[in-house]
Formats: sequence, structure tokens, C-alpha cells
Amino acid sequence: MERRVRAMYFSGTGTTAKVVTAVAYEMWEALHENDGNVKYTKAPNINFTPKTARQKQYEFDENDIVVFGTPVIAGRVPNVLLKFLDTLRGDGAMAIPVVVYGNRDFDDALIELRNILEDKGFHTIAAAAFIGEHSFSQTLAEGRPDGEDMELASNFAEKCADKIISVPDLTLAVKVDGNEPLRPYYQPTDRKGVHIDILKVKPKLDETKCNQCGMCVELCPMGSIKKETPGHVEGICIKCCGCVKKCPQQALYFDDPGYLYHKEELELGYAERKSPKLFLD
Ligand SMILES: Cc1cc2nc3c(=O)[nH]c(=O)nc-3n(C[C@H](O)[C@H](O)[C@H](O)COP(=O)(O)O)c2cc1C
Ligand code: SF4
Ligand code: SF4
Repeated sequence: MERRVRAMYFSGTGTTAKVVTAVAYEMWEALHENDGNVKYTKAPNINFTPKTARQKQYEFDENDIVVFGTPVIAGRVPNVLLKFLDTLRGDGAMAIPVVVYGNRDFDDALIELRNILEDKGFHTIAAAAFIGEHSFSQTLAEGRPDGEDMELASNFAEKCADKIISVPDLTLAVKVDGNEPLRPYYQPTDRKGVHIDILKVKPKLDETKCNQCGMCVELCPMGSIKKETPGHVEGICIKCCGCVKKCPQQALYFDDPGYLYHKEELELGYAERKSPKLFLD
């Protein structure tokens, strides 16, 4: 028997990618070293952050083991991914759902991702919620996942490998935290408790800084930035902040008052460090 191990992820600013690629690699190493009965191959990871990558069909089978990651958006799996996730075919592959959140809460994102993967024919054998620097902020969960997180990711990978070698009961989905039915998307509110609507908010461009390098055009997971006009974001912006955080000239920024209020509220209210949660039962 030969089994393929890989990570598959969406990741606007790279925190989800960092966790799931490490878990997949270290799990493969542990399987390769400790299980003489099966040949394990480290298969290429699948990054479905670019819009073009979500236009392809991905099919797996019982010889695949996939560490599957998404960031938490408004307490849930990013809703712009739901249509794409519905096209996946697990066909008996093992999956390890992982969500990465910005130190507020992962609410129902992990249970939602687990259910989607089970529904698409994957067997979920373990799961985890990790913390990443908040997309909106440079200070909230700054620099995470950090060394401590990555050590936990490494332990988690080894435990997943142990579970795979000991032949898990594939009829049972991994138990995770979260509510069913799923709670509504988390909505930020202002001082008076009025809902802050940031749906249509888009980054602005400081033209004096931009050198038209085109990096933001490549990075935007929604394909919403055009090379000729990086200052004018056309179409959907999910506020992933990939363009804002990675622009080499720091030319992109948000100035919407509701967005800035919410960012500051998060920084003040959720400064206390949270720990990753691992699920192996
Ligand atoms: C629109 C939006 C909504 C978010 N909602 C939440 C949330 O509900 N809870 C939370 O803790 N973090 C939230 N985050 C933060 C991200 O989950 C976190 O920063 C994550 O590490 C980003 O992953 P990435 O680097 O792979 O894009 C949100 C981020 C964005 C862009
Ligand atoms: S990444 Fe920054 S400098 Fe490059 S085109 Fe975009 S806004 Fe301009
Ligand atoms: S325009 Fe919006 S969706 Fe596109 S990279 Fe920037 S923040 Fe993300």
C-alpha cells in the first residue's frame, strides 16, 4: 500500500499555510519513520488561495491523507470558499481539519469545516484550532504562529501519525468544539451595540508609495486588483489583508472608520494569549 500525505489550504496572510504545511510534513516524517508496513509519499501541497486554483477539481481516494486548513472569518469557514469546497471529492481519504484564528475565537469554524469534509467523503481523524496574527492587526497575536505554537503543531503531527498507524475507527468523525446548528456569522458592533458593516470596505492606495510592482495583483485571492489600477479594487474584497501586509512599499491601507474601530476593539479586548486546541478523539 502507498499513501500520499499533503496539506491543502487557503491562506491570505500565510498563517494558516505555516501551520498546515508544518503539520503535514512532520506527520509524513513520523509515519515514514514509524510505520514499516506502508509506503508514505510526501505529495505536493495544494494552495487554493489564488482564484485560479479554486477553478480546478480536486479528487482524492482512500490512499490520501490531507491536512486541510482555512482561516476563521467571522467565526466560521470563509463563506466565499463554500462553493469551491462543495466541489471536493474525498472518496474515503483521511482528513485533518485545521482552522487558524486571530485570538478572538474560532466559534463554529472548526465544526463547520469538519462537517463539510465529512460531507464531501473524507474521514476526519483529528482536528485543531491554532492562532495566527490577526489579519487586521500588527499587534493582535503578533508573530503567531510562533515557536511555542509550532512546537505544539509538531506534537500534534506526531499524535496524528500514531492514530493513523493504530488504524482509527473511520466511521466516527473527530469530536470538536462548536455548536450545531451553526451560529450565525460573528458581527462586530460599535459602542452603542449597532452592527458595523465592513462588507463593502476595500483597501486604499497611497499612490506616492506604489511602484506598480504588481505583487498585490498576484496575491489577491479574489482576483479583485487589476495591474493598471491597484488603487481601485474591483469586485469583492474579503479583507484578508494579504495585499496590505505584503505590499513591499506599504502603499495599501484601510481608513474606514468602522473597520478601524473594530480593529482597535479587537486589539484591546483580545490581547490575552490563547492556546491552540487539539482534538484527537
Ligand atoms: C474578515 C475577517 C474576519 C475574521 N474573523 C475572525 C474571527 O471571527 N475570530 C478570530 O479570532 N479571528 C478572525 N480573523 C482573523 C484570522 O482568522 C486570522 O488572522 C488568521 O490567522 C488569518 O489566516 P491567514 O494568515 O491564513 O489568512 C478574521 C480575519 C478576517 C480577514
Ligand atoms: S504591491 Fe504595493 S507597490 Fe506593488 S503594485 Fe501593489 S500597491 Fe503598488
Ligand atoms: S483586495 Fe481585499 S481580498 Fe484582495 S488581497 Fe486585498 S484585502 Fe485581500
